[in-house]
Amino acid sequence: MSTTDQHHAAAETGQDKTPLPPAEPKPTADENTPWIIGFFFVAGLVGSLIFGWIIFPELLYSKKQQPISFNHAVHMDLVYDGCASCHYFRDDGSFSGLPDNSSCIDCHQVAMGVSEDEEKYVTEYVDQNREVPWLSHPRQPDCVFFSHAAHVKGAGMDCAECHGDVSKRTESRVYQENRLSGYSRDIWGYSISRLGKPAEGEPKTMKMNDCARCHQAETGHKGACFQCHK
Ligand code: HEC
Ligand code: HEC
Ligand code: HEC
Ligand code: HEC
Ligand code: HEC
Repeated sequence: MSTTDQHHAAAETGQDKTPLPPAEPKPTADENTPWIIGFFFVAGLVGSLIFGWIIFPELLYSKKQQPISFNHAVHMDLVYDGCASCHYFRDDGSFSGLPDNSSCIDCHQVAMGVSEDEEKYVTEYVDQNREVPWLSHPRQPDCVFFSHAAHVKGAGMDCAECHGDVSKRTESRVYQENRLSGYSRDIWGYSISRLGKPAEGEPKTMKMNDCARCHQAETGHKGACFQCHK
């Protein structure tokens, strides 16, 4: 074989190689692409839903304990005037709200030694003539006007309709504060997924819509803005 022949042969094999059969992985990639896109779409969607509906709302709230834990159930058996022994209407019709020491010192002048919380209450507050800085779960922003008299005396509503069954509560609830607005979770609400939504007998949320929904049902209209915002 001459060198030219050899060159010729090499050129021929070279030419033979040029029209390569179509690359193996190519069609497979084409078939897989929609599936992969679909996978990442679904994974991304599920991820963001879990984050937005569950994780973010949990991160959004910081948890605080009351200065001392208070047992409603035990006290309901001891007081003579039910809820009004501590949460009463003053003579001018205004609502006393969370109790100050005057509702307690008849019984807690000296520590009875029944529990750490009671001891702490007497030594750190009663003895030093300080009020307990209770955190208020239901308290609304300053721009909202709410009257207990209008609802309890006027419309004859029971405390439990809005606050749940407090009388069976054996310890203070953990206070959850919205890190952005500073509002309590009781008025700011729960995750969109309604996870952690208050169960039956638990306090209802008191967002603007919650007030309006009941007003619509009870009176046939939601009420004008200035009714609740003064
Ligand atoms: C002996 C006094 C006393 C009596 C009686 C009493 N409370 Fe209270 N209440 C307190 C104290 C103290 C707090 C603040 C500590 C806490 O939140 O646990 C409080 C807090 C509350 C709160 C705000 C906290 C929340 O979880 O929303 C509501 C609402 C409430 N009480 C309703 C009631 C109702 C309804 C009754 C009757 C079934 C009642 N209380 C009877 C002392 C009392
Ligand atoms: C009618 C009397 C009476 C009044 C009024 C009263 N207490 Fe008590 N309290 C008691 C008695 C009795 C006990 C012990 C009950 C037990 O452990 O069996 C007690 C227990 C406690 C305890 C420890 C148990 C617990 O976790 O709650 C705390 C804290 C307390 N009281 C705080 C208060 C505060 C604050 C007020 C006012 C808002 C108040 N008490 C009003 C009689 C009273
Ligand atoms: C129509 C719903 C509704 C009813 C019924 C109702 N409340 Fe309230 N309660 C609220 C709202 C809303 C707030 C917050 C008010 C505010 O911040 O101005 C509140 C606040 C409170 C607070 C905390 C006050 C504070 O200073 O932060 C207590 C304690 C309380 N209510 C007890 C009661 C008791 C006891 C009854 C029954 C006699 C009752 N509530 C009936 C809706 C209601
Ligand atoms: C479960 C039912 C219910 C809920 C929840 C409720 N209300 Fe009401 N509200 C009533 C009823 C019933 C009346 C009395 C209507 C009437 O007399 O015409 C009323 C009356 C009022 C009035 C008029 C009082 C007056 O006489 O001037 C105001 C203001 C008001 N509500 C504010 C609120 C706000 C703010 C909230 C939420 C934080 C709220 N309400 C939640 C049932 C409700
Ligand atoms: C039935 C009572 C009620 C009526 C009527 C009402 N609001 Fe509200 N509004 C509330 C309550 C309670 C809040 C606080 C809880 C929340 O943000 O949902 C609030 C919160 C707001 C806020 C946010 C303020 C803040 O500090 O977060 C704005 C803005 C507002 N309302 C505007 C209006 C306007 C405008 C109208 C008339 C179309 C109106 N509201 C009618 C009860 C009411």
